[in-house]
Amino acid sequence: MSPTLTGKTIVLGITGGIAAYKAATLCSRLVGLGAEVRVIMTEGATKFIAPLTLQTLSRHPVATDVFDERDASVVQHIDWADAADLVIVAPATANLIGKLAHGIADDMLSTTLLATTAPVLVAPAMNVHMLAHPAVQINLDTLARRGVRFVESGTGQLACGYVGKGRLAEPDEIVSVIVELLAGPRPLAGRRVLITAGGTIERLDPVRYITNDSSGKMGFALAESARGLGADVTLVCARTDGPPPPGVTVVYTESAADMHEAVLARMPTTDFVVKAAAVADYRPAQRQPSKMKKGAERMTLELVRNPDILQAIGDWKARVAGNGPAPFVIGFAAETDDTERHAMDKLKRKRCDLIVANDVSQAGAGFGTDTNIVSVYGEEGLVAALPLQSKRAVADRIWELAIARAERRDGPTDGGKGPGA
Ligand code: PMT
Repeated sequence: MSPTLTGKTIVLGITGGIAAYKAATLCSRLVGLGAEVRVIMTEGATKFIAPLTLQTLSRHPVATDVFDERDASVVQHIDWADAADLVIVAPATANLIGKLAHGIADDMLSTTLLATTAPVLVAPAMNVHMLAHPAVQINLDTLARRGVRFVESGTGQLACGYVGKGRLAEPDEIVSVIVELLAGPRPLAGRRVLITAGGTIERLDPVRYITNDSSGKMGFALAESARGLGADVTLVCARTDGPPPPGVTVVYTESAADMHEAVLARMPTTDFVVKAAAVADYRPAQRQPSKMKKGAERMTLELVRNPDILQAIGDWKARVAGNGPAPFVIGFAAETDDTERHAMDKLKRKRCDLIVANDVSQAGAGFGTDTNIVSVYGEEGLVAALPLQSKRAVADRIWELAIARAERRDGPTDGGKGPGA
């Protein structure tokens, strides 16, 4: 089903940065999805793009002046703040972010932002050094702690000539975050989901290591999907090929031992855990402090067992069972033969609620691909066989199955708040 924003009122705030031109595309996409879009531009924004452009695209007058009251029956900034289902600021300059963090209301946009009780989404765009400045970072932190959501800036060539982080996220990415926030059910609202992604790195010396082909794509798809269902997502990443999705908390780890520590520490505050990472079963017995030198013709590498993180989660779950809520545990199994037998063995041994098996020898499945082919097992055996499809579609289906089972076990996953919560 294609997404719709019909019936939603979105206030689009545009501030004065070169990326303001992208707000026209954003406005047009939101209107195309059926949203009522009300545009507020700061004075700076009007230097980069004409209000008439946004008026034409949104089919409503654009507000630029808090004192320019056109309808005597309402106070416009309060009226728009109340009508909004969401306020999105794109692009958001360092100045606007600073004002919002400090409660300054000196123009139409900042006044509306203080007056609204709707969710606020901010898409920062600025020079790389401005974004990294401690003042801006502290302001972003303050806003995040108050529940403001962000569409993270991208990395690349900036209009100021620098290459780095600070580009406005692409309009399509912003739209998908808005759709996730406003459309569709949110059965994981209020739930804390921990997902691992990527391949662990086991160092031999400062420049060499053992790893595997995991790109993190399966874990990222699960994180993105859970975020769309309203979850508070923590992504524990090892080495991955690309950046993690926006809107999730990322914890970077390297080795299996680091990941073990990061995951176990978060278990008491986790409702769902998904172990999509490819974790090395062994690590070098010795990690050399300096680069190893070439020597004899042959060399034997001694490896020792790593902790099994999923096993530790299962054991922890068994210990807390009966003394409070236990997390719902989803394991993965990467197999090349006898998939069902190995997957069922792992499910039972590691006390998973579900296990997702991929036969990584099949084309289009497993490591590095954008697609996967999986079989999902529960304690009774095969629950669903998912043919070749995108990792995102696989992730959506895994969550459907997990949520249905968790609800049977514990009651509604969103605490009874229902759709849209
Ligand atoms: O990252 P991508 O490129 O998108 O690829 C996705 C994937 C193939 C990595 C993913 O779909 C997948 O199968 N992940 C699990 C890979 C794996 O380690 O499988 P396993 O059968 O060796 O381990 C079984 C389970 O135990 C896994 O959930 C694993 O995370 C966990 N494990 C394994 C060893 C260990 N020391 N600790 C663990 O927690």
